[in-house]
Amino acid sequence: MPRYIDVQAPEQGIQLITLQRPEALNALCTELLAELAEALRAAEHDELARVVIITGDRKAFAAGADISEMAERDLVGILNDPRVAHWQGIAAFSKPLIAAVNGYALGGGCELMMCADIVIAGTDARFGQPEINLGIIPGAGGTQRLLRAVGKPLAMQMVLTGETITARHALQAGLVSEVTLPELTVERAMQVARNIAVKAPLAVRLAKEALLKAADTDLASGLRFERHAFTLLAGTADRDEGIRAFQEKRQARFQGR
Ligand code: CAA
Repeated sequence: MPRYIDVQAPEQGIQLITLQRPEALNALCTELLAELAEALRAAEHDELARVVIITGDRKAFAAGADISEMAERDLVGILNDPRVAHWQGIAAFSKPLIAAVNGYALGGGCELMMCADIVIAGTDARFGQPEINLGIIPGAGGTQRLLRAVGKPLAMQMVLTGETITARHALQAGLVSEVTLPELTVERAMQVARNIAVKAPLAVRLAKEALLKAADTDLASGLRFERHAFTLLAGTADRDEGIRAFQEKRQARFQGR
């Protein structure tokens, strides 16, 4: 039974993971991160889980790595840090991951949010990489994913000053996909998840993989990957079903085959 997260399946195809460490603004202690990585590993192999939503509470999505825990770790501790594998596991999740963000998404919290594929933010959300205030730098993808998301000037400003940005600013910069009322973030994330959960799972998986390729490869390689993925899907029963359903003017029923 996880201690710091709550895992629910509120509807068919959708898994909702809620970070539950309010006493520390959902700071990502190693146990919490391990539980999260484990929950995603389980969802990866669960055919019924088509989309996963991660959320926090109204005050914080997550206020970063646990600073008290960090204070205990020396250089060797950091070299042997199990958190690296947990982060890799989270980033490698192959199904759609939606973050529903209210309040603080700082440091590791912002990095966790950037591991998600779609981000629904409440107007009350604040994003930042304040590690510089602690004499360190982001260590879970903050310098790399932030720059790719918002471009150099804003990424530099956020990482070098530790300043936070508002949800509106994050939307304008391309860091989040939508901004909604604070009380509606999870509901809106559920709507988006519902829309994805009824699609062909193999097409969804390859679409995610192809889009992520765009962030870390050159255009020619990315286009080649896209073409191969597109061709692969021609061998699926769901492609036949999708096209037949369109021609017969009915809703497609995808099986993930
Ligand atoms: N780690 C551990 N505990 C944290 C925490 C964190 N990242 N963030 C908040 N808390 C704790 C506070 O210590 C406090 O605990 P106590 O009640 O026991 O004192 C509790 O959560 C509530 O926090 P505050 O009283 O500070 O709440 P606030 O509303 O006054 O301020 C805040 C909110 C501005 C987010 C402030 O808590 C803050 O600055 N937190 C730290 C943010 C930060 O620096 N994050 C980066 C961490 S490093 C990192 O993430 C490295 C990486 O790249 C992986």
